Amino acid sequence: MLRVENLYVSYGHIDALKGVSLQVPEGAVVSIIGSNGAGKTTLLNAISGLVNPIKGSIQFHEKSLPKEPNRIVRLGIVQVPEGRKIFPGLTVKENLVMGGYTVSSRRVLNERIEKMFQLFPRLRERKDQQGGTLSGGEQQMLAICRGLMADPKVLLLDEPSLGLAPLLVNEIFQLILKIRSMGVTILLVEQNARKALSICDFAYVLETGSVTFQGTGEELLCNEQISEAYLGKTIQECEDPEDAMSQKSKKRG
Ligand SMILES: Nc1ncnc2c1ncn2[C@@H]1O[C@H](COP(=O)(O)OP(=O)(O)O)[C@@H](O)[C@H]1O
Ligand SMILES: [Mg+2]
Repeated sequence: MLRVENLYVSYGHIDALKGVSLQVPEGAVVSIIGSNGAGKTTLLNAISGLVNPIKGSIQFHEKSLPKEPNRIVRLGIVQVPEGRKIFPGLTVKENLVMGGYTVSSRRVLNERIEKMFQLFPRLRERKDQQGGTLSGGEQQMLAICRGLMADPKVLLLDEPSLGLAPLLVNEIFQLILKIRSMGVTILLVEQNARKALSICDFAYVLETGSVTFQGTGEELLCNEQISEAYLGKTIQECEDPEDAMSQKSKKRG
């Protein structure tokens, strides 16, 4: 449903994206992994309309996306930025209200806030607390929930696990699967390649502005080059295909 074709983005002399093509099918989790500076954020920013491509196209349901970020949000494509970027001086609830700026009905707005509190009860407990006083993990949850307030069809997540302790990282990935089960399509950018590959339906590897590998999460987890470059150790878990299958079915369940 979301299709990026031959996309080029430059910042002056720096070519950040050099002909990137990818597809995000409806209902899927698609991961993009790649090192620092590979162009991951630029790709999400291009989809959101925050940077203008010099060449290429981005289509949503076979139609070119409008240029204006706010029209793109109204179509249902919502980005949760890298580094959380919640409003630190606003309360948790006020942050959520900001995320629901496209909603004109007070009733719908309150229903959505209630939905977020159900999804992540810790936010309810802290609803009157200033965003900036939350822990890093809670701020990330808030940033994701703020994005969900716009009722997205596609959620673009930029490094949601960055800088979080391992337990919280797991919590974030659980939340991502929960959001997928709510029917939201997810494009996930991550440096935590192992986790990102283990929960996704399909993945792309971005290296200095180009897609160098693509495949299912399992395929990439079992690829020796990917393993050496991004997973930090040699492949072991692929030797038992049944184990890989059971991990996959757990994901789906
Ligand atoms: N606003 C900007 N101005 C100039 N160069 C930028 C800007 N944003 C990103 N870049 C450069 O573009 C390349 C891709 O950056 P980015 O998309 O942020 O990568 P990633 O998110 O994968 O770390 C990098 O070389 C980065 O230095
Ligand atoms: Mg980035």
